[in-house]
Amino acid sequence: MLIFAIESSCDETAAAILEATETENGHSLKLLSNIVSSQIAIHALYGGVVPEIASRAHAEAISKVASDAFAEAGCRPEDIDAVAVTYAPGLIGSLLVGVSFAKAFASVHKIPLIPVDHIKAHVAAAYLTAPQLKPPYLALVVSGGHTSLYEVPDYETFTEIGGTRDDAAGEAFDKVGRVMGLPYPGGAAMDKLAAKGLETYDPKGKGRLKFPSPATPDDTLDFSFSGLKTAVINHIHTTKQRMGGEEAQLPEETCAEIAAAFTCAVTEGIAKKLDMALVRGNYSTVVMAGGVAANSHLRRAVEAVCRKRKTEFVVPPLSLCGDNAAMVSACGYHLYRCGVRADSTLNAFANLE
Ligand code: KG4
Ligand code: ZN
Repeated sequence: MLIFAIESSCDETAAAILEATETENGHSLKLLSNIVSSQIAIHALYGGVVPEIASRAHAEAISKVASDAFAEAGCRPEDIDAVAVTYAPGLIGSLLVGVSFAKAFASVHKIPLIPVDHIKAHVAAAYLTAPQLKPPYLALVVSGGHTSLYEVPDYETFTEIGGTRDDAAGEAFDKVGRVMGLPYPGGAAMDKLAAKGLETYDPKGKGRLKFPSPATPDDTLDFSFSGLKTAVINHIHTTKQRMGGEEAQLPEETCAEIAAAFTCAVTEGIAKKLDMALVRGNYSTVVMAGGVAANSHLRRAVEAVCRKRKTEFVVPPLSLCGDNAAMVSACGYHLYRCGVRADSTLNAFANLE
């Protein structure tokens, strides 16, 4: 079957076409096209996503992105068997653009409409490159809006067993990056800067720079990034004051050391709670997903925990970690098989219980 998928929950307008076939021992998922139109250049001017501008940019881009997806796949809208769309969580005005487009497409072509949760879609990106993957598994979602651990017993159900009590990891990366003067979003630049810092920064060294852990100091599987974020920002301001004031430019080595210490706090905190989850539960596989899953240091730290606990580790390639519609198509396919459908009353939701 052919699935056409749309994603517009934040600042990427995306469309993809997936050819999915049920095989004797699983599913064959072949991505025919995967188009992402990013609004980052527009929002970078403001240092963050401006919701009203994002909705308008989606409305402008969506038809072209969809027709590019058909051109790249070499198929026609009449060939499509079902349309999948992200309906939550995200920016409401942005989500509504994708939902309205998908509803109109489903209605014109008289095909099923499949509502997709953005978080489940991030995790489903793993099905595209790990054909052996199937539930049950433990999912670790680390993105701009989420830092959560979920038990995934089947293709439809996600049970949250731990999550952030305040900011998400991606928000902390972006905020620290902004205070350091990196362009929005700061995550990818912080990754490189931390790599440079780690050439000399010793996370275990005596008297080293150290920031608070985002792992809550209790026996829950929860996180809290606001204390870490504030500590790093205060450290940057104090360092600037010592160098002559707020206008002072921090030398690159200083920024690299801060990025390394911040990244170590994030990776160690996430690794700690993941390890607790693996000791408590009987999980044979961990799937990590979301924009921050692209972080090279986090990938290594999570892989090390999985190796220690003899658990299989699956993570999508970098190209499928950020927002895209390929992941929506994979999630949509499995939900379709489970009988999940929406009708023309489908609404968008900023948050989901
Ligand atoms: O999943 P995503 O594309 O959007 C949400 O659903 O939230 O995640 C975006 C987040 C941003 O905060 C961005 O800075 C972060 O992912 N990010 C990274 C890296 N690449 C993207 N954070 C750390 N290291 C990276 N390499
Ligand atoms: Zn996302």
